Amino acid sequence: MMRRGKGLRGGLGVVVIVVFLNMLVMAAATTEMVAAEEEEEEAAGKVKVKVGVVLDLNLVVGQMGLSCVSMALADLYSSRSYYKTRVTLSTIDSNDTVVDAAAAALDLIKEEEVQAIIGPTSSMQANFIINIGDKAQVPIISYSATRPSLTSQRSSFFFRIAQNDSSQVKAIGAIIKAFKWRQVIPIYTDNEFGNGIVPYLIDALQEADADVPYQSLISPTATDTQITNELHKLKNMPTRVFVVHMLTRHASRFFMKVQEFGMMNRGYVWIITDSIANELDLIEPLAYEALQGVVGIRTYVPRTKRLNLLKRDWRKRFRRYYPTVEDIPEVDVYGLWAYDAAWALATAVELAGTDNLRYTATKINSSNYLFNVGVNQNGPRLREALSDVTFTGLAGEFSLINGQLQSTLFEIVNVIGNGRRNVGFWSPETGLTRKLVDSGGAKGLRSIIWPGEPVVMPKGWEIPTNGKKLRIGVPVKDGFWEFVKLVRDFETNVTIGVEGYCIDVFKAVIEKLPYKVDYEFVPAEKSNSVPGGSYNEFTYQLFLGKFDAVVGDVTIRANRSTYIDYTLPFTASGVVMVVPMKTEKNTNAWVFLKPLTWKLWALTAGFFLFIALVVWILEHRVNEEFRGSSLDQICTSLWYSFSTMVFAHREVTLNNCTRLVVILWLFVVLIITQSYTASLASLLTVQELKPSVNDINLLLKNGENIGYQGGSFVYEILKSLKFDDSQLKTYESAEELHELFVKGSMNGGISAAVDETPYIKVFLAQYCSQYTTTEPTFKADGFGFGFPIGSPLVPDISRKILEVTEGERMKEIETKWFKNVEECTASKVAELSSTRLSINSFWGLFLVTGVVSLSSVVAYIGKFLYDEQRVWRNNVEPSIWRVFCALIRKFMKRDPTAHPLRRRACMNDVPVLARRRSF
Ligand SMILES: *[C@@H]1O[C@H](CO)[C@@H](O)[C@H](O)[C@H]1NC(C)=O
Ligand SMILES: *[C@@H]1O[C@H](CO)[C@@H](O)[C@H](O)[C@H]1NC(C)=O
Ligand SMILES: *[C@@H]1O[C@H](CO)[C@@H](O)[C@H](O)[C@H]1NC(C)=O
Ligand SMILES: *[C@@H]1O[C@H](CO)[C@@H](O)[C@H](O)[C@H]1NC(C)=O
Ligand SMILES: *[C@@H]1O[C@H](CO)[C@@H](O)[C@H](O)[C@H]1NC(C)=O
Repeated sequence: MMRRGKGLRGGLGVVVIVVFLNMLVMAAATTEMVAAEEEEEEAAGKVKVKVGVVLDLNLVVGQMGLSCVSMALADLYSSRSYYKTRVTLSTIDSNDTVVDAAAAALDLIKEEEVQAIIGPTSSMQANFIINIGDKAQVPIISYSATRPSLTSQRSSFFFRIAQNDSSQVKAIGAIIKAFKWRQVIPIYTDNEFGNGIVPYLIDALQEADADVPYQSLISPTATDTQITNELHKLKNMPTRVFVVHMLTRHASRFFMKVQEFGMMNRGYVWIITDSIANELDLIEPLAYEALQGVVGIRTYVPRTKRLNLLKRDWRKRFRRYYPTVEDIPEVDVYGLWAYDAAWALATAVELAGTDNLRYTATKINSSNYLFNVGVNQNGPRLREALSDVTFTGLAGEFSLINGQLQSTLFEIVNVIGNGRRNVGFWSPETGLTRKLVDSGGAKGLRSIIWPGEPVVMPKGWEIPTNGKKLRIGVPVKDGFWEFVKLVRDFETNVTIGVEGYCIDVFKAVIEKLPYKVDYEFVPAEKSNSVPGGSYNEFTYQLFLGKFDAVVGDVTIRANRSTYIDYTLPFTASGVVMVVPMKTEKNTNAWVFLKPLTWKLWALTAGFFLFIALVVWILEHRVNEEFRGSSLDQICTSLWYSFSTMVFAHREVTLNNCTRLVVILWLFVVLIITQSYTASLASLLTVQELKPSVNDINLLLKNGENIGYQGGSFVYEILKSLKFDDSQLKTYESAEELHELFVKGSMNGGISAAVDETPYIKVFLAQYCSQYTTTEPTFKADGFGFGFPIGSPLVPDISRKILEVTEGERMKEIETKWFKNVEECTASKVAELSSTRLSINSFWGLFLVTGVVSLSSVVAYIGKFLYDEQRVWRNNVEPSIWRVFCALIRKFMKRDPTAHPLRRRACMNDVPVLARRRSF
């Protein structure tokens, strides 16, 4: 395509002269418009005002525009015959070239001294014509030059009766946002028309949170091979959303290639700008077939009676360009804008008056032919008049602000079958709406039928499908295989698979994705060239493009996130220090008191006294051993009671009730002493466990060694704490860590290790009672999967990670790999809680003993009172006090009626005394 360049002006002069001669002939031919001729007769006495037309008459848009312009003039003057002016057209075919258009405009201004120029057709032709129009003060009115930047170098004499290309970018952004697509590739022709929209489009996409990973330029003269090559490139990219901005004649060929290449299938999204969507009717049926499912932004034209009338007359008027009526295309929005433009211009010409239709000659400067033009005296007035014209045009309300048509209502169409379907509207005020008059609530679009797949909304992103799988890098580990483990074939030593906790989580997450992701695991050999760097290097390989993702026990680190994108973490986080437990003997002098709570101690002591009292009451009247002086009696009873503690009571009890009480009591004593013994034994033998080191700074000061897992970022933490490299030892597995601890710092082992919580959990599960974690804990963000920066998989996978970690599936995976971890902590808790014996465990026993003892005493005293009823019934004594004293005296005495006493006393007298002495 032609581009404006420095050489243009120089070359133009020569070309113009050649073209100029031809033009005179052409102009005469093309101006013999049917409409103009008819008018000439009845327009006697009217002032003729010359207006130039520069259009590409070999293109439909030019032909249609010209027809519409003459229709507009005919319609206007027939309805307003009182107008004093009559616009006559001088038409020059600009032949779809920039030079012809420039020459035509120059010619019209210099030779014809036209009052205004309608045209040019394309944005490329417009630049020069706008400049010359500005110089000569001739309004330039274009209905199809839509490049937005034309306003930046515009003059006040340029009028655009069309929507500029940038007015639709927000609508495209709204659609992208509505469907939450993250990446969009614009495809546009590599010329001034195509790239004019790009900065605006990219801004709008960014506003809609979409990236533009690539821009595809298609030359207007591209060969089929070039298009195919470009499509091949696009197909291998993951992005599946394309915005196409082209002229319709280029688009037909492009989309046929797209279809041929299988990119009009399911999963793809094609959005076309208004330059194609406005002219859908012009696309030939074969190409139209290729557009199925495409979504287009189209200028909305209200359906009016006038428009219907125009459409009815259309075929008659447009006939001369087409051999048969069937070939005549429907009038499109560019034709309507041309109609409105001509209508407005003719109205403005009438308003501006005809006082001064001359040009004034400029100072002759023969050295510059091109710009040596006269100045249109009527220009400024015509410009003002045109700026102020407002009316209801065929394409909607007509009003100009800064020389541009103000109308930004678009309809969104979906290409289906031979036609199209309206799926919504967009305007800057309401955004996307389903209905034109938004009655609230009907936001968004109606359902769209996408290419290939009528039901599912495309994700807008796919893993490239040309047989390639996603290469997932996994770290090769020498230990902690619960997380990632390569499964090797025993015979051939070939890696046949990968398993482990991280791998299972990844698989579970991928299963949940709504689309299919093919992947294969690629083991990444570790290199230990940099201390603590191998995981950094591993993730860096992703950045270098060796993998498409990394999965494994890769911790989320700020340092690494500068070159990869992390998903959300799927493990608990944190870095802790683990140290061996130091065993400490229980050297407390009062440890023997610990097994029982003090309440239980007090209760037991109380019961010994109580039992002493009960035994005395029941025995002293019948048992010789419990007799003697009062002090003797007290001592014997207490002695008896307390000796039951070690089952050393020797006094024979004679009362049956006493025996019952004592048996029960002995049972209680048995239980309590047994429990006490057991508890004390455990207190003394289970030594108290304490972490051997509490302070990492102490290790640093004492120059003791500390361990970290090879390749881990923990190295960086330790270095930041100023540990020397000679103090740092690496390990690869739990067993190795244990060995290092066993060796001890003195012999090249370690005194403590610092690692991430998940590994430490595994380690502690294996060596449950020997190690413990301690301060300090460092912040870390847990394990996450890594993807290339900006990968659209990341948000999807993060969302699914949350689903998996919050669900049942995570528990299954955890029990599969870390069953022991739970058991260890559970047994530890059980151990800790078995400390002291309290009343709660024994009150039942005490209750039974208490009740039985009391009832025995009550029964015994009852029997005593019954036996001695003589004393209190026959009123031997005068007062109750006397009776009571008499009873007490009796009670303190021996019971003479007790047979066992007499018998036992005779039989056992000697031995009992002998035993006593020997004791
Ligand atoms: C281009 O326009 C000139 C007149 O300006 C005409 O003589 C010539 O035939 C046209 N070329 C084509 C390819 O139509
Ligand atoms: C394009 O048109 C829109 C709507 O009429 C307007 O807001 C915007 O300023 C125009 N852009 C340029 C570059 O003229
Ligand atoms: C004629 O044009 C030349 C070059 O553009 C310029 O230097 C000169 O001043 C012009 N002369 C007049 C009389 O405008
Ligand atoms: C298998 O291969 C790995 C590395 O690929 C190597 O470390 C290991 O020693 C090999 N095992 C056998 C049995 O050959
Ligand atoms: C990450 O940390 C390592 C080790 O401290 C350092 O070598 C590397 O340059 C850091 N990378 C970035 C991007 O900061």
